[in-house]
Amino acid sequence: MTPIVDAERLAGELRELSRFTEVPPTDKAGETAVTRVVFGEADRLARAYVAQLAREAGMSVRQDAVGNVFFRWEGQQPELPAVATGSHIDAIPNAGMYDGTVGVLGGIAAVRALQAAGFQPRRAIEVVQFTSEEPTRFGIGCLGSRMMAGVLNIWDAVKLRDKDGIGLEEARAAAGFTGELGDVILQPGAYARFVELHIEQGPLLEASGERIGAVTAIAAPASLTITVEGEGGHAGAMLMPARHDALVAASELIQAVEAAALATGAIDTVATVGMCEVFPGAVNSVPSRVKLSLDVRDIDGPRRDGVLQAIFAVCDAVAARRGVRVTRRWINADSPAACDPEIVKAVERACVAGGISYRTMVSRAYHDSLFMARICPMGMIFIPCRGGVSHRPDEFAKAEDIGTGVRVLAQVLAELSLG
Ligand code: GLV
Ligand code: MN
Ligand code: MN
Repeated sequence: MTPIVDAERLAGELRELSRFTEVPPTDKAGETAVTRVVFGEADRLARAYVAQLAREAGMSVRQDAVGNVFFRWEGQQPELPAVATGSHIDAIPNAGMYDGTVGVLGGIAAVRALQAAGFQPRRAIEVVQFTSEEPTRFGIGCLGSRMMAGVLNIWDAVKLRDKDGIGLEEARAAAGFTGELGDVILQPGAYARFVELHIEQGPLLEASGERIGAVTAIAAPASLTITVEGEGGHAGAMLMPARHDALVAASELIQAVEAAALATGAIDTVATVGMCEVFPGAVNSVPSRVKLSLDVRDIDGPRRDGVLQAIFAVCDAVAARRGVRVTRRWINADSPAACDPEIVKAVERACVAGGISYRTMVSRAYHDSLFMARICPMGMIFIPCRGGVSHRPDEFAKAEDIGTGVRVLAQVLAELSLG
């Protein structure tokens, strides 16, 4: 059985999906800016579009209380745990059109490719569209899969608020997701296997010319907010020696974040301050309060925690030396996830059978797979993206490469559905 993938059709569907965005399209050649925040209008329209594609492929559609959507192609033995694939369709502000979407529309395309080849699955194949993999609205990444895995419980979930103070309860109800949040959690074994197709979001495949990455592990992400409180006042009248400027103190912390990550000497350690809110934010006012976001990741969990401790030590030192208060609030500190060796082998087998070059590699970005690994054996398939660029409007993957990824995904799903 050879899956019959229509790569051009899929490329057209990805283009169509990119039209559901909160920002007007950029007119720069080679760029498609997409902003699609969970439960917003663009997300609602995008969800409807994807569901229509799944229905056209003969799949049933169901959803859970937090907005995870499950597209199911029934198997000959419906009572068996299904094999699942999928990803997300939400996009961070000013992102591109491939992150996540390739795994959702690619999952549906893989089902079509198997149907076109006359394949009959033994276990059902489900394509899962996870809610809010991106942390944009509620501050925490992988909201849907995190709840499915029971890593985020209902009591903590209902406390989540967006920047306008709208809670998860209100936001999901407004988007039409009204069921019991307690029903979102899945028991281990609910799925037989999970495999996610995704763009690499890094430069290795493009540089090596290999067409597929068989992922072996996903790095451990941690994030928190750091608030620096100093003393504000008149920018003209407050004398320099008497200042406790919160932003100047924060700038030392930002430098320390970079230094702590570099100090491990490991290419897999990364640390980022991506947000900086300055209060009161006036040209003639000394900043009294600064809120920073901190994102630290490593494939080696203890090494990541060492970086965090080094950053915290600088927080304490800067607080004492500059007479400011530095407080920290944890958002998440997740463990790394290992991919199932049998799924890695299945990806390799599919590549060998199709004459497709591949390499094994780790994922430094996080994915819903990180949490699906707690429910069932998990694997990931990477395809190259131009310049390794992601979370930017110029993110780009060739239709041919996406088609190759779908072919491998389809082959792996077929094998796993018969197992
Ligand atoms: C997911 O988008 C991540 O930040 O790795
Ligand atoms: Mn992303
Ligand atoms: Mn993604």
